[in-house]
Amino acid sequence: MEPVALLTAIALVPQPAKLVETGGAAPASAEVRYVEDASVPAEGYRLSVAEDGVTVASSDAAGRFYAGVTLEQLARPDGSRPCVEIEDAPAFGWRGMHLDVSRHFFTADEVKRFLDLMAAHKLNRFHWHLVDSQGWRLDVPSHPELAAASAEKRGRAIEGRPDENRGEDFAGPFYYTEAQVKDVVAYAAARHIEIVPEIEMPGHFGSVLAAHPEFACTDADGKRTGWNELCVGNDAAIACLEDVLDDVCRLFPYGVVHIGGDECSRNRWRECPKCQARIRAEGLADEDALQTWLSARMVRFLEARGKRAIGWDEYLLGDGISTNAIGMRWRGAGGAGGGPSNFVSAASLAAAGHDLVMANSRWVYFDYPQGLPDDPYVYTFDKQKPLDLCYRFDPLLGIPPELHHRVLGGEGCNWTERTAMPAVLEWKLWPRGCALAECLWCGPARKPPYEDFLRRLEVHRARLVEKGVNAAPLPPPQP
Ligand code: ACM
Ligand code: ZN
Repeated sequence: MEPVALLTAIALVPQPAKLVETGGAAPASAEVRYVEDASVPAEGYRLSVAEDGVTVASSDAAGRFYAGVTLEQLARPDGSRPCVEIEDAPAFGWRGMHLDVSRHFFTADEVKRFLDLMAAHKLNRFHWHLVDSQGWRLDVPSHPELAAASAEKRGRAIEGRPDENRGEDFAGPFYYTEAQVKDVVAYAAARHIEIVPEIEMPGHFGSVLAAHPEFACTDADGKRTGWNELCVGNDAAIACLEDVLDDVCRLFPYGVVHIGGDECSRNRWRECPKCQARIRAEGLADEDALQTWLSARMVRFLEARGKRAIGWDEYLLGDGISTNAIGMRWRGAGGAGGGPSNFVSAASLAAAGHDLVMANSRWVYFDYPQGLPDDPYVYTFDKQKPLDLCYRFDPLLGIPPELHHRVLGGEGCNWTERTAMPAVLEWKLWPRGCALAECLWCGPARKPPYEDFLRRLEVHRARLVEKGVNAAPLPPPQP
């Protein structure tokens, strides 16, 4: 299609639950009337665009906001809108997008642009991966030494690819101040996005150890052995983390805090006198139980402050963790799928009473390349995650119907080991993020066929490009 034809077609992403074209158009000057209607579901809206005016009905502010997003997508270049009747509401309440700002740092303004694009797709949870071994990005009043130790670390240069690295003018400090966090929180709130801050533990812990080498495991002679994990036997380290979580609870006025939990090796704990002393003192069976002990303690700590913990699925291995804790599934192909040896299926976590958020690497890890011809951002050892694969993402897969209510929703992940530039981040995320948004807004029961999505996406991508988004092209048609 020609660009103008593209931008005048009705092409909504995500697709509303009900859409009827009634003919004619409302001029750009048409008045928009807002009415409250308690019968409209949470975050939903009813929208009538008629030649003599536009009416939005909703039961909450989020529904009204999403009607506005739809109105923006309906607007033609001259500001007029085709007449339609729409009824719409999301299938899932948790429609998330994650951003790793540790491997490479992104400024508060870049985070705000990321939030704008989330809001334009009716996504409502920003999972801010603030902490990993490569950098601690949150200045917390109780422990300023943590951010200070990472202040100069912008992220490792991507070798052999000068265009994919920031110039020397990209200056630190490479962390967010309390004032910046407040600003981002307010910006997100205005777009009906809640922030889920993540403080990683006990693995991916190198940035804490950079500030506190004494929090690392040792051997029997006191020689340091740990470089990437918390010494769970160290009381001062645990007290430090609890101080940090206290600050995080205050800085982020939301109900859920992410406490990491993934990919923690037990090898250092096995030979560490402090970790072994903790295992004995607490009567724990082994090192797996040591991680469970830590999870249970942090979950209780957050609960006492009125917050729910969420964590990558390993943090819920073992018994005795409050079912108030939410699991974020990243491994395995679906709820029931197989996986590494320390794997417990998402279905069994749900059966035990845990709510779940599905963020499976199989479908929605946008750092993987998208299978495009001549894609510049392909690295030698990558598996591909093409658009149609992302569009097959189903948060309910492998979860028995009687446990579907345990699935709060899902999210896509943007790991940044090999993403330093905002433009590259956008290329990797859009338009695959549109597929994620539609999977979560529509849910598997009402998600349209992929071909229908592609037809709308052709228009929608042109809209993104028009806004200056560095969106990747759509895949070439299949022969
Ligand atoms: C993860 O990808 N390690 C959560
Ligand atoms: Zn230890």
